[in-house]
Amino acid sequence: MLERARRLRREMRFLMELRMLPPRVAIFQWRARRLALRMGDRFSAVSATQPRRLKALLSTAHGRRRVVELGTGTAWTALSLAIADRDRTVLSYDSIERPERKRYLRLAGPDARRRVTFVSAPGDTGPPDRERVDLLYIDSSHEREGTIREMRAWQGVLGEGSVVVFDDYAHPNYPGVKEAVQHLELAGEQRFGLFVHEVSVPINPAHLELQPPSKTESSC
Ligand SMILES: C[S@@+](CC[C@H](N)C(=O)[O-])C[C@H]1O[C@@H](n2cnc3c(N)ncnc32)[C@H](O)[C@@H]1O
Repeated sequence: MLERARRLRREMRFLMELRMLPPRVAIFQWRARRLALRMGDRFSAVSATQPRRLKALLSTAHGRRRVVELGTGTAWTALSLAIADRDRTVLSYDSIERPERKRYLRLAGPDARRRVTFVSAPGDTGPPDRERVDLLYIDSSHEREGTIREMRAWQGVLGEGSVVVFDDYAHPNYPGVKEAVQHLELAGEQRFGLFVHEVSVPINPAHLELQPPSKTESSC
């Protein structure tokens, strides 16, 4: 009974927060959430970027056309980024190709789907070409070393004005994200659990070298 009330409250909160999103994104998120509940897909419900934070990500992404996401999960955020801007392309990496993803792709519509490319590889594989990336969204291993490796792999395609967004910054379960940001000495600001860094000066190459693993590393 208590669990049912809790679940209901969670769903109500999700529904209320959807109002912050652009209508087409809100509709997609709502349909994806309902499908996840029907399929018993707890992973998506828990791991996908929640509406309040997604709103902050979409605002940061405004006008940014070439977006890369590291950590696709079941693609709720990759598809939302594509739905939010008809001229945007999204390249999304994950080391695991989750079978549920296909079901959510169907909810997004052909146009948004066409503009999202999935790569089954770790985020530190790096870019497929030299094309500039306007926004790099890191929501993958949540580990210090892994995050530093990803920044090393992608920094060559980040130009002045590109933005790097780190998810779960300051999350108590994922200290590695903050440790990586601090190690790299990145300037930026926190927005609803995201750390947003706008590229202005190149990262000190010495900071991109791998350091001995931190004792506090954890994975998502
Ligand atoms: C929090 S989930 C991503 C959720 C997704 N961004 C969203 O909002 O729907 C984290 C994902 O990162 C993936 N992952 C973990 N380590 C990775 C790595 N080194 N490279 C790429 N993906 C990784 C996991 O398989 C998992 O699917």
